[in-house]
Amino acid sequence: MYDAFAENYLAHARDGVFNALYDRPAVLAVLGPVAGLKVLDVGCGPGLYAEELVFRGARRVVGVDASSRMVQLARRQVAGPVAFHRQDLQAPLSWAADGEFDAAVMPLVIHHLDNRVAALREIARVLRPAGRLVISTHHPTETGLTMAAATSPWRRSANGGSGAGR
Ligand SMILES: C[S@@+](CC[C@H](N)C(=O)[O-])C[C@H]1O[C@@H](n2cnc3c(N)ncnc32)[C@H](O)[C@@H]1O
Repeated sequence: MYDAFAENYLAHARDGVFNALYDRPAVLAVLGPVAGLKVLDVGCGPGLYAEELVFRGARRVVGVDASSRMVQLARRQVAGPVAFHRQDLQAPLSWAADGEFDAAVMPLVIHHLDNRVAALREIARVLRPAGRLVISTHHPTETGLTMAAATSPWRRSANGGSGAGR
């Protein structure tokens, strides 16, 4: 599903208020310094986190995402000590050794997964003991509000006016 939205996601998440001024700063602040660390970027999307982690001095960043288009964009966007793999997070990270990562971020991904336990178990396996994992997700009301806005007769019509009464 994310293949179809990959370009749009990159365009809005790079500078959009929610991603650029709220989610990324908050997650990276909780994560703390990454200089010299090997970091797993779980559900990396088009690589906006990976780019920042490299900028902040991570020794290596490995991004994984189920969407081949997202992985393609990430490979194009981010230079430096990075690798991106196509990976469904509900399947084992069989290419990764136990404890090989110092830290991991999983921003705005967990609500897409049906089998969160399997994904978190694998992330725990590949993190070193006391390694850090920072997760972000949407507020639970957001999906409901978005759906309500999309189906409301009051939504704005394509010509810019209110849809009400048309
Ligand atoms: C909202 S985007 C977040 C991207 C990135 N973490 C960021 O914050 O910019 C959600 C990402 O989760 C990925 N995703 C959804 N389900 C997945 C799964 N089962 N396995 C791996 N990635 C998945 C999507 O392809 C998409 O890139």
